Amino acid sequence: MRQGGGADGRSRGPPGESYTVALAGAGGGEDAPPAGPSALRAEAAADYVSFWERQASRLSWYRKWDRALDWRPPFARWFVGGRTNASYNALDVHAAHDPSRTAIVWEGEDGAVRTVTYGQLLETACRTANALSSLGVGRGDRVAVYLPVVPEAIATMLACARIGAVHTVVFSGFSAAALRDRIADSGARVLVTADGCRRRGSVLPLKRIADEAASQAGAPGGPLERIVVVRRIGEGCECPMRQGRDVYWDDAVSAEPPEREPAEMDSCDPLFILYTSGTTGRPKGVLHGTGGYLTHVHSTFGWAFGGAAAARGSVFHCTADVGWVTGHSYVAYGPLLHGATQLIYEGAPDHPAPSRVWDMVRRHRVTALYTTPTALRLSMRHGEAAVGAAPLDSLRLLGSVGEPISPEVWRWYFERIGGGRCPVIDTWWQTETGGMMASSLPALETVPLKPGSAGPPVPGVDLRIVDEGGRAVQAGQKGHVVAARPWPGMMLTLWGDDERYRAAYWDRFKGLYHAGDYAVRDGDGYLWFLGRDDDVLGVAGHRLGTAELEAAIATHPGVAESAVCGVPDEVKGEAIVAFVVPRAGAADASPAQPLPADLAAGVSAAVRSEIGPVAAVRAVHVVEKLPKTRSGKIMRRLLRAMASGEEAGDTTTLEDPDAVDAVRRALAGGSAG
Ligand code: WT7
Repeated sequence: MRQGGGADGRSRGPPGESYTVALAGAGGGEDAPPAGPSALRAEAAADYVSFWERQASRLSWYRKWDRALDWRPPFARWFVGGRTNASYNALDVHAAHDPSRTAIVWEGEDGAVRTVTYGQLLETACRTANALSSLGVGRGDRVAVYLPVVPEAIATMLACARIGAVHTVVFSGFSAAALRDRIADSGARVLVTADGCRRRGSVLPLKRIADEAASQAGAPGGPLERIVVVRRIGEGCECPMRQGRDVYWDDAVSAEPPEREPAEMDSCDPLFILYTSGTTGRPKGVLHGTGGYLTHVHSTFGWAFGGAAAARGSVFHCTADVGWVTGHSYVAYGPLLHGATQLIYEGAPDHPAPSRVWDMVRRHRVTALYTTPTALRLSMRHGEAAVGAAPLDSLRLLGSVGEPISPEVWRWYFERIGGGRCPVIDTWWQTETGGMMASSLPALETVPLKPGSAGPPVPGVDLRIVDEGGRAVQAGQKGHVVAARPWPGMMLTLWGDDERYRAAYWDRFKGLYHAGDYAVRDGDGYLWFLGRDDDVLGVAGHRLGTAELEAAIATHPGVAESAVCGVPDEVKGEAIVAFVVPRAGAADASPAQPLPADLAAGVSAAVRSEIGPVAAVRAVHVVEKLPKTRSGKIMRRLLRAMASGEEAGDTTTLEDPDAVDAVRRALAGGSAG
């Protein structure tokens, strides 16, 4: 039911627009929580530490913790002294109860389907754990995973967790250079990859890319010793194997015994590293722990999706790749901790036809869908045909994540996909937060949903909006998003760099976690997220730092200097635009200066080779100079405005006003790349 009035504050939809939709057949989850969100919120507000302790006790522990929270800002350690194991909680508890229950339904891009039960997934994770041990992987060792969305990816993550190894999954859309850097930084000695994977009809040769990454010298973390190769494509996919280093998954895993005792891990032992973009050129290795992370992910999955995702007969589908945090928290861990059945999909959402995602929802009777605004905008752009005429009547709950969802897209999701029956939740969180931090929770309690707003913070999480001085702003006022208290899914630190962790998240506002987003809180306590407050772009829901992109561009010998900004893109949210200043061809050793069009193409290729296909540059503009402030800081805001066809705005702090004309000329002259 659509309602008017009520909420004040900033709204991007019609003022006060909200929808109140009861979740059909609400409750019924095997883990159905006992109380609605307001009761949970009240309980959490009274004492957030014992609130989270009660959530933690829903998991299985070998040993109960001595202390729920050790908070030595900015380092939080949850459930100290407690011992548990992630794979035990994700697999053994369900397999013991009903080994034939389906854990994963996998669909390949080519239409292949595989079903994996909890019993089988447990067995595979155990064999893989044994295989990793045989390859010399022990507690605390890092294992890099460069795999598409296949059941083996999840089995490998859980196998690492089983023996106390730390997985670091690298998205298969990253390049050899990006993979090499992550292997080196994490010090992984074993890599698990595949011969290839299917992406939009062609085969991406993952093993060849992995070989290139492995061969590049100078890995300070020590050499990569072993590569395990999943045969995903087989015939026709060139897959050179190096004797003594490389081994096929089938050979390494199937010979191993199907049992393996889970290691009793300390709650604060690391579970995984996941690299994400920040404001410098070097990706940050976000390190997550065990007990706190599992508690946060288990709780939020249950609160957000409830019986619509976890009850018998329900099918959950999250469209995220395992290479991103959503694929960790709400593919590999959250659903399995709940014993849910989930659909996972290898390929592109619009291949071979724009209706692919919706066809799969129908075919597999998906009940709860978790996807991104980018995927929804892609479908919207394809028109009616992209959804198809057949009903989507299995759906009961719809979720969104990764970037702000506009009221227009929200309404399309609600009406066209959900038929006006399914609550839509918008969940805000980050790689660093481990799990959801803000979302309406209609699976727990029927509440008004406001298109464009993520809703209030989840129970037990204290998000605030502050001004530049760290003071709370009034409702309706834009400010920086901060967390005022630790939460269990909070990262432990940045891998090997406590100082960078402190500087990146805790130095800006004293005692507060600085998330890097802007938001407004309305009079009802709903949060409206407005994008990043730093130099990080959101391209198709993926984070890419301007500094990281500029570092990639700097590898091109023809470039003296560059600046990158994001411009609005109808489907991807933001698209990458680069401004480059060519290197003067004066020095005798330098090659002849390339033509602007060649330079532009070369710059795009450099970014692709340094970061990967995930970082597609939309336009490269060759300029004589970049607009800078008197202190030498590039005015990206100005570039962004001009590249988006807007006025340059205030240019009084510019060091050289001619730079604006240089940019204008470059934009008028078109672009290449
Ligand atoms: C950044 C975190 C959370 C998993 C996927 C992205 C943006 C994420 C929302 C949302 C508005 C959102 C933020 C955040 N973001 N979800 N519901 N509404 N913005 O994880 O790669 O760590 O990116 O994504 O800007 O800081 P990530």
